[in-house]
Amino acid sequence: MRVIATIEEFRAARAALHGTVGLVPTMGYLHEGHLSLVRRARAENDNVITTIFVNPTQFSPAEDLARYPRDLPRDLALLEAEKVDLVFAPDVAEMYPPGFGTFVDAGPITAPLEGAARPGHFRGVATVVCKLFNITTPHRAYFGQKDAQQTLVIRRMTLDLNLPVEIVVCPIVREPDGLAMSSRNVYLNPEERRAATVLFRALQAAQDRFRAGERNGDALRAAMRAVIDAEPLARADYVSVADLDDLHELEEVTSRALASLAVRIGTTRLIDNCLLEVRGERREARGER
Ligand code: PAJ
Repeated sequence: MRVIATIEEFRAARAALHGTVGLVPTMGYLHEGHLSLVRRARAENDNVITTIFVNPTQFSPAEDLARYPRDLPRDLALLEAEKVDLVFAPDVAEMYPPGFGTFVDAGPITAPLEGAARPGHFRGVATVVCKLFNITTPHRAYFGQKDAQQTLVIRRMTLDLNLPVEIVVCPIVREPDGLAMSSRNVYLNPEERRAATVLFRALQAAQDRFRAGERNGDALRAAMRAVIDAEPLARADYVSVADLDDLHELEEVTSRALASLAVRIGTTRLIDNCLLEVRGERREARGER
């Protein structure tokens, strides 16, 4: 496994690879969620590239860029064990040199939910992912359903800009108690860590109501909000039952929907989601064709 920090050196190493290339972009501090993407890429491609870059343009000034957890030696050991071929780990000046001025805006899909809560976030995500696609020229790129809106933004960008990359979306990996794995979970103290299961419990409440036949959007959102309101350490940022394609809030769920939420546990902001789907529509809902 080669670890490379400059674009020039990376391009040379990439050019020497034969066969298909799968890319897994990350911000590091790797956990089993990231590694599930790496394993899928390993299984489906001749070569695997992982990028590790804490991208400043997707953090607002008020967010956690400076304290975002980092542990490059540990990350590299984990990637080595997964038989990754190339790791691209640039510094900020390599990705955003003086004079940098071009950004990618994927349009209305970036407006609701995470986009509303974090202005400019998806502009930063789309820009860095576009750059990483151009630097690594993968055949396939792997993203987690954990960041559901991010996958829609990247699909939109890839389609609109005719980027020759197949986008593969992988299931959410969870802790045994249901908490979705996230690099940000390390911010939680033990009491907050226990409270953080509220996200999964709220999604399960929506899932239960949906399975019992509830199709009203407000009722499903209220079911999630009630679970969060019952947890003293948690404060809902948003709860949503939205259309899977354009993310508009649904009054009625006809066949399927994305239930998603953002919750603050103390100062830590966590997100999670699940698909609500009428039985038999599962494959379609995952975007499989
Ligand atoms: P990061 O948060 O490091 O996540 C990297 C990838 O891992 C994303 O595609 C994310 O959805 C996926 N992932 C995170 N937790 C997961 C889990 N519990 N189960 C499955 N997949 C999970 O997302 C980013 O970085 C950045 O925005 C990035 C795309 C790298 C651009 O900077």
